[in-house]
Amino acid sequence: MNKGRFLMLLVCCQLFLLACDSQPSGKDEIDVKVENLLAQMTLEEKVGQMNQYNGFYDVTGPAPAEGDAKNKYEHIKSGWVGSMLNVRGANEVRKMQSLAVDSSRLGIPMIFGFDVIHGHKTLSPIPLAEAASWDLEAIEKSARIAAIEASAEGINWTFAPMVDISRDARWGRVMEGAGEDTYLGSRIGVARINGFQGDDLSAHNTIAACAKHFAGYGFAEAGMDYNTVDVGTVTLHNVIFPPFKAAIDEADVKTFMNSFNIINGIPATANKFLQRDILKGEWGFDGFVISDWSSGAEMIAHGYAKDLEHVAELATNGGSDMDMESYANIKHLVKLVEAGKVKESTIDEAVKRVLRVKYELGLFDDPFKYCDETREKELIYHADHMAAALDMAKRSIVLLKNENNVLPLAKEQKKIAVIGTLADDKDSPLGNWRMAGEDNTAISVLEGLDAYGVNYKYAEGAELVTGPTAFPVELEINTTDKSGFKEAIALAKQSEVVVMVLGEHGLHSGEGRGRANLGLPGVQQELLEAVYKVNKNIVLVLMNGRPLTITWADEHVPAIVEAWQLGTQTGHAVAQVLFGEYNPAGKLPMTFPRHVGQVPIYYNQYSSGRPGPKTEVFWPHYMDESEKPLYPFGYGLSYTKFDYTDLNINVLEGRKVEVSVVVTNSGDRVGEEVVQLYLHDKVASVVRPVKELKGFEKISLEPSQTYKVVFTLSEKELGFYNGQGEFVVEPGDFGVMVGTSSVEGLTSEFELK
Ligand code: NOJ
Repeated sequence: MNKGRFLMLLVCCQLFLLACDSQPSGKDEIDVKVENLLAQMTLEEKVGQMNQYNGFYDVTGPAPAEGDAKNKYEHIKSGWVGSMLNVRGANEVRKMQSLAVDSSRLGIPMIFGFDVIHGHKTLSPIPLAEAASWDLEAIEKSARIAAIEASAEGINWTFAPMVDISRDARWGRVMEGAGEDTYLGSRIGVARINGFQGDDLSAHNTIAACAKHFAGYGFAEAGMDYNTVDVGTVTLHNVIFPPFKAAIDEADVKTFMNSFNIINGIPATANKFLQRDILKGEWGFDGFVISDWSSGAEMIAHGYAKDLEHVAELATNGGSDMDMESYANIKHLVKLVEAGKVKESTIDEAVKRVLRVKYELGLFDDPFKYCDETREKELIYHADHMAAALDMAKRSIVLLKNENNVLPLAKEQKKIAVIGTLADDKDSPLGNWRMAGEDNTAISVLEGLDAYGVNYKYAEGAELVTGPTAFPVELEINTTDKSGFKEAIALAKQSEVVVMVLGEHGLHSGEGRGRANLGLPGVQQELLEAVYKVNKNIVLVLMNGRPLTITWADEHVPAIVEAWQLGTQTGHAVAQVLFGEYNPAGKLPMTFPRHVGQVPIYYNQYSSGRPGPKTEVFWPHYMDESEKPLYPFGYGLSYTKFDYTDLNINVLEGRKVEVSVVVTNSGDRVGEEVVQLYLHDKVASVVRPVKELKGFEKISLEPSQTYKVVFTLSEKELGFYNGQGEFVVEPGDFGVMVGTSSVEGLTSEFELK
């Protein structure tokens, strides 16, 4: 070889080596590792990666049949278990993980899933409450902290965020989502995933997130959990899908969970259209899909699968990669491959997805990196986490009514009565999804008032729940015992102001906890009215996991504070808002109906052909109730006042529209405002809603301060999905509203060419 050619070869070799060196960041390197590992695996071991067992530290679904999980330790050692759920604690996870890593033939680590929904040990507000903050930074931080605590307890995968849109307050799981709106829900879902997954998924304090429940779970008929879902293409593409798509496009979510429901006749768990065509096809999702708890086996009851073997076949071919609690894959997949009913290439595809996420988490480099007892001790209940939970709690509170500025209360106020059993409840404020949380660890409202140095007298009034309240029992509501009313009425009589803390128990919402009535449960409405008879100066503090029909209260009580279930720091947050140390700024993420009969009620509805109101009978309305909501989406008051002026619209080149508005704090306190932009595509090939949220910004203003908010709308906000599921942007006239809620703001219009 002459010298010139030799030098050339040398340069080429160096370039090649450099190229190899610069690869590790990409997926390619992981793909190679996955392929190599897959090549060594037996069919049984592959199927093992598609199998998850429950650790029974917690049970988050119906217990499986006797014996089903009996051999789980042996199965782990055989390499037949890819994942565990509901195992927690650094030491416990280490023990379990070592069975897989040290005893199985290939030592493939398991991924440990857990429902880290609103905090882990330090509990932040329920997700619906956090959504009321419209504060993406705070929400991301809350998820970040949850991940830090969960990962310190051995967990590396959360089954969150739930990004199901729901318009039905009867559905118990509205507490777990971001409410009724697709745009807000998408932004919040992305923030949560970013918080869980962080910048570096392989770090020891970040965890894989899971967008759930794909799809349509929040549209269960009559708001009853697990019920039928039947939705058209336009709703599916424009309302239900976007938060899931955003989870992939904007946050690179690592996993998806399918759902219990059938959707348009096909169970989501075996739904090829959802999982293969849309999710893995059109959207290019490269993570894996887990079933929901026994959602595979439930296809038998649905009348879609004839037996468990059929379940494994349908679910796997339908695109579900891992089985949670159906025991279908582990029992039947090998046979099904041998019989040619499931292709081995389908199994390979599923296993590659699972292994890829495990590589991305860094589990192959160090399977025990989440199992450090020192970190566990240091980080659980860390003071910074408590402070952030308090901040999040305050931001989640919504001021619904404040006639004559009853609020904020003055600390010096002499005679304050506090009435309602929820005021003294350290458990309910923890909300429903507090699997790792310890019962009775919230700061109650009374404790919050004590800590704030408030002088008050307390009367329970009436019990809310009479029986046990452990997860997951049914609640027994007190509907008869009013023996405490007398004391409460007497106390109210001699007080200047009465703070009544009423609402739902923490386990009154959540999975399987639908309600057909949306009023105050038990005898609380009667208690409220009895107290009102002797003292009208009432501040109603609501604790609840869903919108409630508090129509009577709205008509009579001067001040109403929506305090949801605010987690560990509840009492401090409530006290600071009641006494004005914090100026509330939350906005409702879900419409409050006046009556349960109005449900589903939501702001982004379509116009009927006969928009009212009319004097004659022929228009959409009720004869016995207003068609209007009690409190609309996006609504929430402040202790200060914001004025909106100078709405300005600029249609720019390249189908971009710039909308600006000037906001002034014209009150005398510093305050935050969520400036909301709504759009209406007036005439389109598919009818568009009367308004749709397409932008918001949370700002903080000093008294007299003025700020110009500028929104830029692009095709993404201007377009929509048509009946074929295609995204289109159509020229024409658009209406714009920018304001303080979905019903109040400045309006204008523009034409898109
Ligand atoms: C059932 C719930 O629907 C799902 O959201 C949850 O993640 C699983 N159980 C696991 O607990």
